[in-house]
Amino acid sequence: MPSKSIVVKCDNVFKTYEDGDLRVEVLKGLDFSVTAGEFVAIVGTSGSGKTTLINLMALLDSPTDGEITIDGQSVNGMDDKTLSRLRRDKIGIVFQAFYLLDIMNARENVEVPMVFADIPKKERIQRALDLLDIVGMRDFAEQYPAEMSGGQMQRTVFARAIANDPVLLLADEPTGNLDTATGLEIIQLFKDLAHKYQKAVVVATHDPEVASSADRILVLRHGRLHTDTSMYGRDVSSEEEQS
Ligand SMILES: Nc1ncnc2c1ncn2[C@@H]1O[C@H](COP(=O)(O)OP(=O)(O)OP(=O)(O)O)[C@@H](O)[C@H]1O
Ligand SMILES: [Mg+2]
Repeated sequence: MPSKSIVVKCDNVFKTYEDGDLRVEVLKGLDFSVTAGEFVAIVGTSGSGKTTLINLMALLDSPTDGEITIDGQSVNGMDDKTLSRLRRDKIGIVFQAFYLLDIMNARENVEVPMVFADIPKKERIQRALDLLDIVGMRDFAEQYPAEMSGGQMQRTVFARAIANDPVLLLADEPTGNLDTATGLEIIQLFKDLAHKYQKAVVVATHDPEVASSADRILVLRHGRLHTDTSMYGRDVSSEEEQS
């Protein structure tokens, strides 16, 4: 087998938000890549650009400059239809804003991405149940979101995110609303996805538990990525005076 393949790659990626006279340079030339089987945490203080970066990799927004490559394909200049297809086939997303649909039970929610991928109904149902089994939700397949705990919702979101067998899983604050024990269970799902299933997993987080579980921690600071995590952790407040 060849050495681990690069699943997502950022080359000199810039992102600037412009709103009238206001210009916010959030990302200022990021270079990094994540390979199959790797679990990477992106950390940084609030407003450092974690969500911005995750959105770029999720193809939900485009960089101001630079290049993003997903599974060997440069996404620069791709039209919306091609981007949506690439997102559907290659990328799983666990975001707080990507809610479950209230009118569907767990199984039906997990089926949604497979509907878009034209997977036949029978196969879809079986696969949804298998995925719910993986995340420990098999017994709750008929449960509706209103009847789920936060942890059960996040497990279902996770199952839905991997429904189309993505090469890349992206998550933004996946443990944000969970208690520590439930958070640890969710982290285990991410770990397993990377290590057992050889997916590339990138998680933006404030949670030191998530970060310390990752194979690699990247720190966003002043628009750049750093591998030195010494300024991250218990005493983030001292960051400003040190840089
Ligand atoms: N759509 C937008 N338009 C203008 N500015 C934006 C937009 N989205 C984000 N920003 C700005 O970009 C910066 C980075 O925001 P981002 O949400 O990526 O940070 P973050 O690291 O995810 O923060 P948090 O930890 O609070 O979630 C902030 O200064 C924010 O105000
Ligand atoms: Mg954020």
